[in-house]
Amino acid sequence: MADVKKLYIKTYGCQMNVYDSERMAEAMGGAGYVTTEDAAEADMILLNTCHIREKAAEKVYSELGRFRALKEEKPDLKIGVAGCVAQAEGQEIMRRQPLVDLVVGPQSYHRLPQMEARVREGEKALDTDFPLDDKFDTLRQRPKAKRGPTAFLTVQEGCDKFCAFCVVPYTRGAEASRPAARVLEEARDLVERGVREITLLGQNVNAYHGAGEGGDWSLARLIWALNDIDGLERIRFTTSHPNDMDDDLIAAHGECAKLMPYLHLPVQSGSDRILKRMNRSHTDESYLRLIERIRAARPDILISGDFIVGFPEETEEDFQATMDLIEAVNYGYAFSFKYSTRPGTPAAERPQVAEDVKSERLQRLQALITRQQRAAQDAMVGRTVGVLFEKPGRMAGQMVGKSDYLHAVHVTDDRVQPGDLAQVEILESGPNSLSGRLVSV
Ligand code: SAH
Ligand code: SF4
Ligand code: F3S
Repeated sequence: MADVKKLYIKTYGCQMNVYDSERMAEAMGGAGYVTTEDAAEADMILLNTCHIREKAAEKVYSELGRFRALKEEKPDLKIGVAGCVAQAEGQEIMRRQPLVDLVVGPQSYHRLPQMEARVREGEKALDTDFPLDDKFDTLRQRPKAKRGPTAFLTVQEGCDKFCAFCVVPYTRGAEASRPAARVLEEARDLVERGVREITLLGQNVNAYHGAGEGGDWSLARLIWALNDIDGLERIRFTTSHPNDMDDDLIAAHGECAKLMPYLHLPVQSGSDRILKRMNRSHTDESYLRLIERIRAARPDILISGDFIVGFPEETEEDFQATMDLIEAVNYGYAFSFKYSTRPGTPAAERPQVAEDVKSERLQRLQALITRQQRAAQDAMVGRTVGVLFEKPGRMAGQMVGKSDYLHAVHVTDDRVQPGDLAQVEILESGPNSLSGRLVSV
């Protein structure tokens, strides 16, 4: 029998890393590895890391320290660091943590099998080169395993926007889009394997401009082409930049039946002074106008956002402007963070806001967001919404899925299976989810 080795992957950070971890598992599948959920039985451990905030990066080192005992027990165990910390810190990781055998960046992981062969020989392997070859192309020959009902599909990588706080342009590199035909091919393949909802991913997904028939395609054009795939029922995309919401994409939200009424559109701050210092190239006003236009196209759309509090030189007045913007938009969901100093980014050098001030502002902002989120969820009670069921719930007979608006919904009904898209009348709004009754399967 062939020697089957086990691979344990732990994923941090954004959805793009989730997608990348799946691709790494596939690449390593070609080298005789199957994945395991249990680090203790692994022959190789890969941490797919995130560098976005200081805490995220530090987590990697504390996690690595925890593998020391495992490695002592099992000297053949190989430990690798992938993802954005790998890209940002490279060789430094092996210096700081000698347990690490392999460091691979987010644009190089299709070369993992060759790196694995080298570490098996007792070498250390480092690859953080930006692509000379296309990682997606090399990964086309993958097994046709059955998939769950939802999947991510990366269509765009990297970022050229250089917001003053952000590491992404450095860890992921310059903006690049995959050719439309390749994306459609991967989407069809996913649908054949059981996928009914695809979330298109990119650090700036709405800046998509992949080569296609008749010239570069926009994200809107790509969505319309996906809309024609039989068996694909739902399309989402994330994350978008306000400046790249073009007219066609806004219109698609009103006209494209499979495009779900949920849009993640980070604004970061509501103060023009801070937005300028952040190098965001949009204003409070232009963002609010944009939201108006999106809502005119799709009145029930649920808007979500990202906020940073305590960006260098943020005053109480600037913070109030952010709170006013949140009041004006009325978000259905949001992520909010204290500004975290990232070495090498422009904002790292500027006068910092005190930690306790950041904490206090974050608390106020999150209280407001929580109220809005709660209200948006409660407003679903009495409505009938589409739900794509994903898996059994915690209670016997329960199935859970996501509504069109991305709320978690559970029903107790033995007529539904994972992968079913059903109409559900929402009856109750709980702390983190909705519950309802099946109207039709
Ligand atoms: N490309 C996306 C998101 C990138 S990172 C966009 O432009 O919207 C996800 C979120 O992390 C950002 O929207 C921002 O709110 C937050 N973030 C990024 N860098 C940060 C930092 N240095 N400190 C705190 N939050 C940060
Ligand atoms: Fe980072 Fe700004 Fe690019 Fe988003 S748009 S990835 S926040 S630099
Ligand atoms: Fe983190 Fe890299 Fe994503 S820094 S948020 S894993 S792009």
